[in-house]
Amino acid sequence: MSQIKFFKGESLPLEMHKVRIIQKLNLIPLEERKQAMAEAGFNTFLLRNRDVYLDMLTDSGVNAMSDLQLAAMMKADDSYAGSETFYKLEAKLQELFGTEYFLPAHQGRACENIISRVFVKPGSVVPMNYHFTTTKSHITLNGGRVEEVFTDEALRITSNHPFKGNMDIDRLVALIKETGAENIPFVRMEAGTNLIGGQPFSLENLRQVRRVCDEYDIMLVLDASLLADNLYFIKQREESCRGMSIREITRAMAELCDIIYFSARKLGCARGGGICTDRADLADKMREFVPLYEGFLTYGGMSVREMEALTVGLEETMDEEMINQGPLFIKYMAEKLEKLGIPVVTPPGGLGCHVDAMAFVDHIPQEQYPAGALAAAIYIASGVRGMERGTMSEQRNEDGSETLSNMELVRLALPRRVFTLSQVDYAVDRLAWLYENRKLIGGLTFVEEPKVLRFFFGRLAPVTDWPDVLVKKFREDFGDSL
Ligand code: F0G
Repeated sequence: MSQIKFFKGESLPLEMHKVRIIQKLNLIPLEERKQAMAEAGFNTFLLRNRDVYLDMLTDSGVNAMSDLQLAAMMKADDSYAGSETFYKLEAKLQELFGTEYFLPAHQGRACENIISRVFVKPGSVVPMNYHFTTTKSHITLNGGRVEEVFTDEALRITSNHPFKGNMDIDRLVALIKETGAENIPFVRMEAGTNLIGGQPFSLENLRQVRRVCDEYDIMLVLDASLLADNLYFIKQREESCRGMSIREITRAMAELCDIIYFSARKLGCARGGGICTDRADLADKMREFVPLYEGFLTYGGMSVREMEALTVGLEETMDEEMINQGPLFIKYMAEKLEKLGIPVVTPPGGLGCHVDAMAFVDHIPQEQYPAGALAAAIYIASGVRGMERGTMSEQRNEDGSETLSNMELVRLALPRRVFTLSQVDYAVDRLAWLYENRKLIGGLTFVEEPKVLRFFFGRLAPVTDWPDVLVKKFREDFGDSL
């Protein structure tokens, strides 16, 4: 991508790729969308993709692949054990991260399962810059507890702070002193901090965390799933890294960590995942869990085709003209929404554009899931599928009370190289209409609520007939338009 200055008008992000394969999309009529949303229990995870026009649920496993990735898939070496494809991938990771050992896994949360089983014990405390849903569940399942050590800036929706994903170093030290280093198996840093809006941390902050870890002899674990966006922001926003290549920044980050794990559904635009470390003792502790839960050590649940695509995808992530595609589209969308007065997380981060539901539908109490309700309303109004990232994504406390989320966000993910600017403009337009009519949107209540990861397959119902009211208003304003 290049940010090109136009002779007339605003500057636009300009794609440095062309579309060679397309997939047909459907935009089903409004009334059918309302019906589909009801059948999905007002949970966008339960929609069928055939009913979705723009799938902005996630960037996970849905990034567009390059011609070179697809070509590599054809050359994959099928073998249960010792596949050449595996050694190619291992060598690429060794080259990029400088880590000797690579344990493959079927996706990111599988790495979290292994790491948590090996290192988290009942009573363990794991400090992190912010939690992620699956990470927290695995740590909790193993009897541990997550402590978030973010800075005051992290939760400020509107900000111009370049690194809202930074860890608060003073708070980290205080937490270690209070908890005792022996109860802290590792500190976890999440690149491109997902749940606060894809916000990066700085290389300098990672160095400071490392210094603290050294002082107290604690491991440092990097969740590199959203590393690509974080790398780009470090290069853009961190003065001392301006002259470094993306490859150099990658190596500088990796050298500070004991363990790096990632979801290859995000990093490398493929599928799968894995754990990298340069420490033989740590690799030895984790290794036996790979054949037990994932697959043999040379595939770990990934297909050989996925591994080939990942090897190429990792190399392409280092391409300075490619790594910025996601962030530049997100910036374009977030700035358009901001100009229309629609509350979004700023500065624009990675992964997607994050709409602040707490402000958008400030009349809906958190117990009625404002972000979940807004995500449902967005789908009905546009066929665009976003994801709730708020109280619905939390777990209830033991006593049945809600853990009210710090933020209520609707994430409109922009998978890499998938959408066009006119599709982004369409989503912006429908959001603008919804914003004008926001008071028509009402809350949701659970009708089926699973105990673990309820946001994935829980079912809800509207607390009033607000979806009917919204549809009626849409018809008044748009006539018989889809
Ligand atoms: N860590 C981070 C930061 C993630 O964003 C994810 C997944 C995982 C770990 C787990 O990886 O899905 O391969 O098992 N995030 C997806 C999302 C689900 O939509 O944001 P996984």
